[in-house]
Amino acid sequence: MPARIIDGKAIARTVERELQPRIAALAARGIRPKLTAVRVGDDPASEIYVRSKARKAEELGLAGEVLHLPASTAGEELLREVDRLNRDPEIDGILVQLPLPARIDERAVVEAIDPAKDVDGFHPVNVGRLQLGRPSLVPCTPAGVMRLIESTGRTIAGAHAVVVGRSNIVGKPVAILLLQHHATVTICHSRTRDLAAMVRQADIVVAAVGRPCLIRAEMLRPGGVIIDVGMNRLEAGDSAAAALGPRKRAILEEKGSVLVGDVELEGAAEVAGWITPVPGGVGPMTIAMLMANTVAAAEGRWR
Ligand code: GUN
Repeated sequence: MPARIIDGKAIARTVERELQPRIAALAARGIRPKLTAVRVGDDPASEIYVRSKARKAEELGLAGEVLHLPASTAGEELLREVDRLNRDPEIDGILVQLPLPARIDERAVVEAIDPAKDVDGFHPVNVGRLQLGRPSLVPCTPAGVMRLIESTGRTIAGAHAVVVGRSNIVGKPVAILLLQHHATVTICHSRTRDLAAMVRQADIVVAAVGRPCLIRAEMLRPGGVIIDVGMNRLEAGDSAAAALGPRKRAILEEKGSVLVGDVELEGAAEVAGWITPVPGGVGPMTIAMLMANTVAAAEGRWR
């Protein structure tokens, strides 16, 4: 039986709907949570992401602001801006869109953000709190991944979860969250000797490596839950294109490129129990969880 598709857009709307009473309760106290997203330079993908984050905030009744700094901005200037945002009592959430221009020390910038306003959950204080199982602002994509898994109704406790990828932004925090939900967790990465053998044991697979179609149907345990965090633009002539199913292949042939995850969707959907599509799976959840973090940051600051 083919997999059920996990509808990230619909679940993101549910998350947003669940925020409404909390936003209303803050509004009744005269508080309108405010998110400031900082973008440095002219990366076109960053421009789209940052604008959609601020727009979503406004749509939900929060205040969303974009601070756009020129590509020539010095690291010290950016640190001064972050300091100003930290001290601005109106601002509840600060997000500095990554990547930053190579000259700027990304780590110094992330560490300069007030942990109470760190709606990305990237500050070492929040990373440490998450690791310790204490209340913290949780990185948005990992938090969204957990909501998607929970939406299937599958029991996480006792399940074997295989996380493919060990980034600080997705792989590591997802593994910690799964562990907190009592999964048995295996983390795979580029040096893993036999990825297929690991993935085949998984009741839950979270793929977050940025390698198009790395995970294929023959690697999967039938009936499992597959969460695909990858977002790769595959061009004609790319070697991974050979793995595509007929529908994605048709898009590639028509448009010259196609968006694919780290999982080959069409084949995997024949084997898995549940699977997230790309696009329309994890992507919409990230912004919804950012909104949740902004509301939580405001609640925390105005307790
Ligand atoms: N760049 C890509 N993903 C993210 C994210 O989640 N947060 C920030 N700040 N930058 C990103």
